[in-house]
Amino acid sequence: MSSEITIPPIADFHVHVRDGDMMRLVVPTIRQGGVSVAYIMPNLVPPLTTVDDVLNYKERLKDVDPEVNYLMTLYLSPAITPPVIRAAKKAGITGVKCYPHGVTTNSDHGVQSYEPFYPTFAAMEEEDMVLNLHGECPSRDPDIHLLNAEESFLPTLFDIHKRFPKLRIVLEHCTSKAAVEAVLKCGDSVAATITAHHLYLTLDNWAGNSHNFCKPVAKLPSDRQALIEAATSGNKKFFFGSDSAPHPLSAKEKGRNAAAGVYTQSHALAYLAEIFEKAGKLEKLEDFASKFGRTFYRIPEDRSGWLVTLKKEQSVVPMTIGEGVTTVVPFLAGETLHWKIYNNFA
Ligand code: NCD
Ligand code: ZN
Repeated sequence: MSSEITIPPIADFHVHVRDGDMMRLVVPTIRQGGVSVAYIMPNLVPPLTTVDDVLNYKERLKDVDPEVNYLMTLYLSPAITPPVIRAAKKAGITGVKCYPHGVTTNSDHGVQSYEPFYPTFAAMEEEDMVLNLHGECPSRDPDIHLLNAEESFLPTLFDIHKRFPKLRIVLEHCTSKAAVEAVLKCGDSVAATITAHHLYLTLDNWAGNSHNFCKPVAKLPSDRQALIEAATSGNKKFFFGSDSAPHPLSAKEKGRNAAAGVYTQSHALAYLAEIFEKAGKLEKLEDFASKFGRTFYRIPEDRSGWLVTLKKEQSVVPMTIGEGVTTVVPFLAGETLHWKIYNNFA
């Protein structure tokens, strides 16, 4: 088996880098993780609901690291009308992220019902913008809980896809066998991202350990197996979106009120290599981590000369990164990874 892999930098199609001090801490870790394209989430406080907000945020990100290709998104809200969609397209914004109300971090302004947004979706379809769906039903219904919230959302995915068949839709961070099967049933305009941590975790890992708690939650071993098979299958509908979501240590260590989100950015490609190797599918890693997502989003391969080499070497994930109020605990802190990332940029 190969002990060294060199590829152009990968693409991460679901990234949270926050703002202020946290942004300054985590943005430099995008390239450390072997990533040159970062699809940036808009769930800041307050959320990014105007074209100007998004463009200003992009400038702040470029001030920290100008070498990353930041693909930007708007936060779906009543402010995102068809004229805003047209302006966003002209301004080079790639997509619109839809958070159901109250299901995850900073989703208080999320959608309560999809129907009012049909004119917006129609404009997005016309303008060829991407709709990024956080696929969970809000838990207002007493029958909805952490484990079935994603599966219960799938009829909504089918419905939006049927109404807007040319609209490119990404079911973000899918976590269940049911979601994988649903995406396979849809046409080519529907794809899904899969995170690194959901290829490792099941519910046993987050029950009692808030550092592994994220939304949607990791589910059963059979669900994890379905995600591993989808990611390593060579099917272009499934590609990498880390959903790396840093929270300060103080927000994670709050017992039942712990913030949802797992930080994986700095070791993104190393986490993936571990899983692909175990599955005997290392040769599929680049497709999943770079090529399929770039194809869906029409982003060319990185030809800057920057190359990422993965070497079969042990390295221990640090216990924390940052300091003071922006101390963040990375995924698998203190554990040994068997692949190490080397970037050839200075
Ligand atoms: C994300 C965050 O912290 O912003 N949290 C998470 O648990 N994944 C939001 C999200 O993607 O749901
Ligand atoms: Zn996310």
